[in-house]
Amino acid sequence: MNITVIGTGYVGLVTGACFAHIGLNVTCADIDKGKIDALNAGRIPIYEPELEEIVRASHKQGRLDFTTDVPAAVKGADAVFIAVGTPSMADGRPDLTAVIAVARTIAPALDPETVVVVKSTVPVGSGAYVERVLRETAPDAVFSMASNPEFLREGCAVQDFLNPDRIVVGVGDCHARDVMTAIYAPFGQDGVPVVVTNIPTAELIKYAANAFLAAKVAYINEMANLCDAVGADVDQLSRAIGLDERIGPAFLKPGPGYGGSCFPKDTLALTALAHEADCPVRIVEAVISSNTYHIRRLVSRIEAEFAAAWTERGYGDTKLHGKTVALLGLAFKSNTDDIRSAASLVIVPHLLRRGARIRAYDPAAMDNARALMPELDYCESEADVLAGADAALLLTEWPQFKELDWPELASSMAAPVLFDLRNLYAPSTMAEMGLAYFSLGRPAATEEALFSAR
Ligand code: UDX
Repeated sequence: MNITVIGTGYVGLVTGACFAHIGLNVTCADIDKGKIDALNAGRIPIYEPELEEIVRASHKQGRLDFTTDVPAAVKGADAVFIAVGTPSMADGRPDLTAVIAVARTIAPALDPETVVVVKSTVPVGSGAYVERVLRETAPDAVFSMASNPEFLREGCAVQDFLNPDRIVVGVGDCHARDVMTAIYAPFGQDGVPVVVTNIPTAELIKYAANAFLAAKVAYINEMANLCDAVGADVDQLSRAIGLDERIGPAFLKPGPGYGGSCFPKDTLALTALAHEADCPVRIVEAVISSNTYHIRRLVSRIEAEFAAAWTERGYGDTKLHGKTVALLGLAFKSNTDDIRSAASLVIVPHLLRRGARIRAYDPAAMDNARALMPELDYCESEADVLAGADAALLLTEWPQFKELDWPELASSMAAPVLFDLRNLYAPSTMAEMGLAYFSLGRPAATEEALFSAR
């Protein structure tokens, strides 16, 4: 099988590399010469565990090529995957300019019977739109259409691709069905369900899945707030409701609200799509406003908790002005350098407006953060960021933060105050270490000790 993937961004590169890894011949094409040169030299433009290894290995074995010549890349392909970006426009709808530009470029170069597969996340009806553009551009072209949404999480995209829960394929005709099922045959043989459907259904599945997951996150965040208000414990609540198989344990961890490149964008796109179809999705609208409100509420709570902790520690002035706040983590979640729609982008401007000095450390996202938040002092390590700080805020659940020597670190701070927005530590342990410790939806340390003793 010969596969061409157009677009070497996050989705395109992971898709191309993983197809090559399972033995298909892949050409990845991109008009960005800098990116292609870097890839040909074995350099990966994004941070993603395992990706560099499989790109280098497949490239060396001759199964993965990179080129800027898009028309040449589609020659001889059984399937051409369009995996270019679809950024949000001001009204929340995705901008299809790049997808359509690719369609215009490839139309005259398509071999008969090539399957054109839309991999980018696009609104329902986009497959039909791409098909129209291809036919208008090259009226004699013979091709089939398919849609193949991705469900890759940043930070574990390679593993998600190689071990998917399911594969979704929307097809326009029997030829597309046969080619797509042949491409994914190794997964089917491993027992992975392959859902073959029409193109609009495949397009909608992607949005429906992401909006549902976003709803779980927004829901557990509201429950965490309620737990705080009534003295309940969100960790226990989350575990208990997740044990019901109909609910499931995943995506029930409270945090600063969902961020990243997909949930915020896809929930907005789904509401825009639903409005256009005169069929509003009120639940998804509520999820978006819940997520926005959650982080704003947290910002006020952080300020109030810091002030209370400083009062207790004898600070005469408990305003943020002039205080040093240390940020542990800037990325929207762990194992990524991505700060798109990250909590840090809401919290930092607020703290700066209040006159706080901000020091920050993130194991991967500091280069991306520097471009957007040049005012911060970027530090080399956890010890460096915390030394002398009046308070710390943990924003990203990096596994290495779990291993920190808090007694040592706390003693280096001007005041040992920590607000953990990821519930990474046990409140009782942190209290024993002498920290003023705040987290989301968990009762006071004494009470936690009481229940864990049972
Ligand atoms: C998501 C989808 O999971 C993936 O299938 C899709 O194709 C792309 O979008 P990603 O954006 O990489 O992946 O991140 P994900 O791991 O899903 O987390 C999304 C956001 O929800 C993050 O901000 C994360 O911190 C937050 N989250 C997730 C929680 O706050 N609590 C949870 O329990 C799970």
